[in-house]
Amino acid sequence: MDTGKDFALRLSEWHRAHGRHDLPWQNTRDPYRIWLSEIMLQQTQVDTVIPYYARFLARFPDLGSLAAAPVDDVLALWSGLGYYARARNLHKAAQAVMNEHGGEFPRQPEAIAELPGVGRSTAAAVADFAFGARAAILDGNVKRVLCRVFGIDGFPGERAVEQQLWALAEELLPQRDVGTYIQAQMDLGATVCTRGRAACERCPMADICVARREDRVGELPAARPRKAAPQRQVRVAVIHAEGRVLLERRPPAGIWGGLLALPEIPDGEADAARWLGARFGLAARDAITLAPFNHSFTHFRLEITPIRLDVGDAGHAVADADHRWLALGERDEAGLPTPVRRILDALADGNLEGDLFSR
Ligand code: ADE
Repeated sequence: MDTGKDFALRLSEWHRAHGRHDLPWQNTRDPYRIWLSEIMLQQTQVDTVIPYYARFLARFPDLGSLAAAPVDDVLALWSGLGYYARARNLHKAAQAVMNEHGGEFPRQPEAIAELPGVGRSTAAAVADFAFGARAAILDGNVKRVLCRVFGIDGFPGERAVEQQLWALAEELLPQRDVGTYIQAQMDLGATVCTRGRAACERCPMADICVARREDRVGELPAARPRKAAPQRQVRVAVIHAEGRVLLERRPPAGIWGGLLALPEIPDGEADAARWLGARFGLAARDAITLAPFNHSFTHFRLEITPIRLDVGDAGHAVADADHRWLALGERDEAGLPTPVRRILDALADGNLEGDLFSR
């Protein structure tokens, strides 16, 4: 099977019966009108664009009128479409065509791509529609279709994946009637192979689609990889006396706001026993650094290193509303943050040594 031919053929047959043929920017070869539609459609759906497109053309029927207008008039007609850099670039590009191309819209995709606000895919679409060029497009819809039909893994925003997709898009390009072909690609992505709920039962590619065969339509194209969550570190004091542990209320803002937790040993404090004396007036028999373990929050990971400080006698140290000597037997009812609970469980089980937490 010639994949490219088969793909293009299926697509154009599907488009004849099910594609969109009467959008306001179709059935014209005027590059100005086509370019304007492609810019408006970059981040905006067809139904939203249609009335804006009509109003814009009524006020600026050609490149010259757009280039000559104050930019505020252009922005006013764009108001509500969003992504206003598009309107500013449109205005600049119209002036560039008037000043640098003698008022003639450039015909080559590479030259069109030099205009402000026009990328490779948009330039190709304008050249194909307006001048019958043979240039591949690769917008979001096309990326989605290609990733699914050909089972392409990896985030399409990644350079290597994008290059692979461009190469595939070029390989698939039919010899003739590329304008119809790219319109069909756009229509398939917008109406059948959609992001949320793909209508595979209506898709002309269903029986060759890798994603469908492997039941991965929902997974392709791959999502942007999540940035690794930042890692923070903290040392906590497990101050232990006669089966009780000293807890301290957290400040109201921040993690575990207002809850009782193990006291944090400040970053600059190298000597935990010295800190214990200065902070609580307690003397430690031992200061044992235990194996660190991780706790994940939504936006970061916390590496917690418990430092066990055995003090023989709690005495009268810090008995106030923000501190509590919690008997280990009461830990179930105390409403403790999970990592604190884990540490106290291990302490109660006599396991608070070695690498228990490193799992
Ligand atoms: N999205 C981008 N270009 C389009 C076009 N020419 N028709 C429909 N939707 C589009």
